[in-house]
Amino acid sequence: MQYMTLKEKVAQMMQPERMDISPTMVKNLGIGSVLSGGGASSSSGNKPEDWYAYINSVEEAALEARLGIPLLYGIDSVHGDNNVYGATIFPHNIGIGATGDLVLAEEIAEITAEETHAIGANWAFAPCLGNAQNELWGRTYECFSEDADVVAQFGAAYVSGLQNGFGDTSVAACAKHYIGEGYTFMGVNQGNVNMSEEEFAELLESEHLLEPYISAIEAGAVTVMASYNSVDGKKCHGNKWLLTDVLRDQLGFEGLVISDYDGIDQIKVPNGTYKEKVLAALDAGVDMFMEPYDWEDCMDVLIDAVQDGEISIDRINLSVERILKVKFDMGLFEHPLTDPAELEAIGTPEHREVARQAVRESLVLLKNDMATEEQTVMEALRDYTDIAVVGKGANDIGTQCGGWTITWTGMAGHITEGTTVLEGIEQAVGEEKHITYSEDGSELGDAQAAIVVLSEIPYSETGGDRNKGNLIFMSSQRQMIDRLKEQNSDMKIILLLLSGRPITIAEEVKKADAIIAAWLPGSEGQGVADVLFGDYDFTGHLEFTWPWYASDIDDKHTEESVVLFPYGSGLTRSETVELSEKPEQ
Ligand code: GLC
Repeated sequence: MQYMTLKEKVAQMMQPERMDISPTMVKNLGIGSVLSGGGASSSSGNKPEDWYAYINSVEEAALEARLGIPLLYGIDSVHGDNNVYGATIFPHNIGIGATGDLVLAEEIAEITAEETHAIGANWAFAPCLGNAQNELWGRTYECFSEDADVVAQFGAAYVSGLQNGFGDTSVAACAKHYIGEGYTFMGVNQGNVNMSEEEFAELLESEHLLEPYISAIEAGAVTVMASYNSVDGKKCHGNKWLLTDVLRDQLGFEGLVISDYDGIDQIKVPNGTYKEKVLAALDAGVDMFMEPYDWEDCMDVLIDAVQDGEISIDRINLSVERILKVKFDMGLFEHPLTDPAELEAIGTPEHREVARQAVRESLVLLKNDMATEEQTVMEALRDYTDIAVVGKGANDIGTQCGGWTITWTGMAGHITEGTTVLEGIEQAVGEEKHITYSEDGSELGDAQAAIVVLSEIPYSETGGDRNKGNLIFMSSQRQMIDRLKEQNSDMKIILLLLSGRPITIAEEVKKADAIIAAWLPGSEGQGVADVLFGDYDFTGHLEFTWPWYASDIDDKHTEESVVLFPYGSGLTRSETVELSEKPEQ
């Protein structure tokens, strides 16, 4: 600290976007961190070696700066090293929570860290510790559960797996987004929690919302990311009560707090100037500024404010100490660079086997009628010899991975390596059964059963926000069910749902003989066939209450609410269940 100039100290507090800074600028300024926002791969390409070459050049530049302070390179490894082509893609957190398997969650995080560290990155912006209450929210799938106590268990396991004793292939974890993101009005992303700070303080207690952060801190989380949402109209990024009084003084967090992408821009300030927003965030407790494209202005604001006596050098020193301590604790001063041999760890068969296990354990069997006097539908399926697989989502790796995959929003198509649901089924039983595939359900009259895949189009953040009228699958997909029944009224209909949340299926429930929530399973779609036809039974359970209609979401946690699938639902292959009567919408 005593060697550092004011400019070098402030440079440590900046996190530009990759596209807005060159290695030379990193070296000349001694920048503290750089990020790749969702999908921001290196300009030379998206293969692991492209990522490694770029990130390594940035880290080496930081080491060549006057003081040679190693740099934190941050990336959204939220379900594997998901930006990178060929990396292992795990189920999104909503599926991991459904497994109930904390040991598996920690193993997934360890592998995620290994495949992230392999490209030279040393900071994963994960785990998300939100506990979504309203599935209209586009980030519901990033949450392990609606229950904060369950989120706390998975979050701690994930932090432990990512940081893994700061061994050679570990990365810094990031407990995010602090705090209250799952309680915004109508589930609006970056929206407002419509209650006073006093009421919110009571909610923190009654809903145990601090538990995930207490557990993450106990697990050693070295970074926390502020949330975009506001409470009572005040943005978390500018809320000193939450970022300092609660997080620091009450919970004892000693790591660094980073703002979210351009998050400080949303802080309401008297004159609306950028300078006021930067100073408000600093005063609230932000240590590092994720200011992807405004970072130079941000530096100028902080340097000028110290030189003009508007802020004390002590406040800057406090943040710089926290940042340097994270780097020391991680061993970055001793091991700042990644061995290129680590690239071999990306997408290995062993890693994919763990992801396949996660897919198996994440499946939740929600409906399973009797096919005969003796067999349930899922038992009878294993004896059928003529089976149809229906729907575009059944054979699309991008769709089954969902958002935050290769690109920020994800997209349909062959976007990376892996196995689709259909390929998994064909590999498992293609020899002994007649498997027919149809994108739209036409010409399948002879099939004894149809596995009908209904899928959400990949999305992320606000792009995934829905209203009470459109939290449904596309009508072109829903029509497939009637098309099949018209061809053969005896055909058993098994709905396989690829969705990032409890989605409205009120009009489909009665038409289905079985319903499976498969969430967003990631690259190893063969995990589905392992349970449908292999040696594994269903073990997953709902971590989210599933109402009949989106209009019931606000009441779904009340005693009198009649929901479609209660929290904790999940059948085995031999079990069946009597569902509640569909209420009038
Ligand atoms: C995004 C997200 C946050 C992510 C960050 C960097 O807007 O809110 O979860 O870590 O920006 O990509």
